[in-house]
Amino acid sequence: MTEGSVPLPYADPAFVADPFPLYRQLREDGPVRRVVIAGALDAWVVTRYEDGLAALSDSRLSSDVRDASDARLLRQLPTSGGESLMGNMLRSDPPDHTRLRRLVSKAFTAHRVAGMRPRIQAIADQLLDAVAPAGRADLVADFALPLPVTVISELLGVPLDDRHDFQRWTNRIVTRGAEPPDPAMVNEAYQHMRAYVTELVRAKRAAPGDDLLSGLIAARDEEQRLTEDELVAMVFLLLAAGHITTVNLISGGIAMLLTHPAQLELLRSDPELLPGAIEEFLRYDGPVSPGIARFAREDVEIAGVTVPRGATVLIGSAIADRDPARFPDPERLDITRQDNAHLAFGHGIHYCLGAPLARLEGQIAIAAALRRLPGLALAVAPDEIRWRPGGLRGPESLPVTFTP
Ligand code: HEM
Repeated sequence: MTEGSVPLPYADPAFVADPFPLYRQLREDGPVRRVVIAGALDAWVVTRYEDGLAALSDSRLSSDVRDASDARLLRQLPTSGGESLMGNMLRSDPPDHTRLRRLVSKAFTAHRVAGMRPRIQAIADQLLDAVAPAGRADLVADFALPLPVTVISELLGVPLDDRHDFQRWTNRIVTRGAEPPDPAMVNEAYQHMRAYVTELVRAKRAAPGDDLLSGLIAARDEEQRLTEDELVAMVFLLLAAGHITTVNLISGGIAMLLTHPAQLELLRSDPELLPGAIEEFLRYDGPVSPGIARFAREDVEIAGVTVPRGATVLIGSAIADRDPARFPDPERLDITRQDNAHLAFGHGIHYCLGAPLARLEGQIAIAAALRRLPGLALAVAPDEIRWRPGGLRGPESLPVTFTP
């Protein structure tokens, strides 16, 4: 560990349950702090809102892991096959980023996504029909987990029966546990995922449909707008990116309401508050925590601190989203909060492509759960909710009771 670095102790249950005291300390100690993540990865964390906003639009900070100098980070890059999965828009810089994002951006506009409302509603209702008679459920496994994966599978045109396999592999790739990930295991998951997506593309090429994946294959085959590797990496990203984050928004949002009864009461009395409540869940305890990674392409000065070339810079969106210089009374969950321009979806050219979809899924799911599960209450004490360790934050399970 580098001298003076603060550990982000994912092996410590108290930190995993509530990382915000440490986030606050980091923010109060300075605008850029050195941390060590899960005992393995050195990073420079940007802790304050205005600096975070500027860093997210600074082109000297790259999204391409190959610009990193940390040997441990580079070693975690899969040795074969997986490299091409990293050739996706999230991990590229312009001009490749611009070209790749343009290929799919139309499918995710607020207007297009609004057309998916009836189908998302039907999926939510179907999942709740299955649990409603029991009077108890785990709202992660029974509800929040299957919903986004069903939506993204249908949008892409991926058979839903495959979801258990790719859910397992993507989880292994994108969620970092308490321990530094075992490179062999991550590599194996990449291999499986790559083989799976390659087969999917082959099958879809033979029998195209009216779905996003068929559209991407046409852009590849008829217009040569992306390479075969980029096509596979795009499908991987879309399956992975919109999946566990949205699960966490739904289950985390419900957990926040059940642990803040006055806010739940307020929302029940005025359902029109729901869109603002979703923004507040994202600000108060968003799924990407503490933040968003970049790699310094050159020495970069941030808030008076020189970050050396090759360094990993973590833009602490979840830390900045409680910056009192930007948000009045930031430690308070307030679903009526105005002027709530949080960083939970990022900012700048990589701003979350799926934000309109995530917002809609969150609204439909949370409204449906409150409506269909009367008397909804936690089946465990608030401090017994187990949170997933690592950079994607959300409840591991959410045991609840309600009137059948
Ligand atoms: C990018 C968060 C849901 C697809 C991002 C970024 C964040 C984020 C912070 C920026 C990363 C960066 O700057 O490096 C979230 C959260 C979600 C969510 C909190 C749920 C609450 C979704 C959904 C999709 C999606 C449903 C749909 C497929 C993407 C893609 C990118 C992205 C493709 C890369 C955009 C680019 O590089 O230009 N997301 N996301 N996300 N997200 Fe989301």
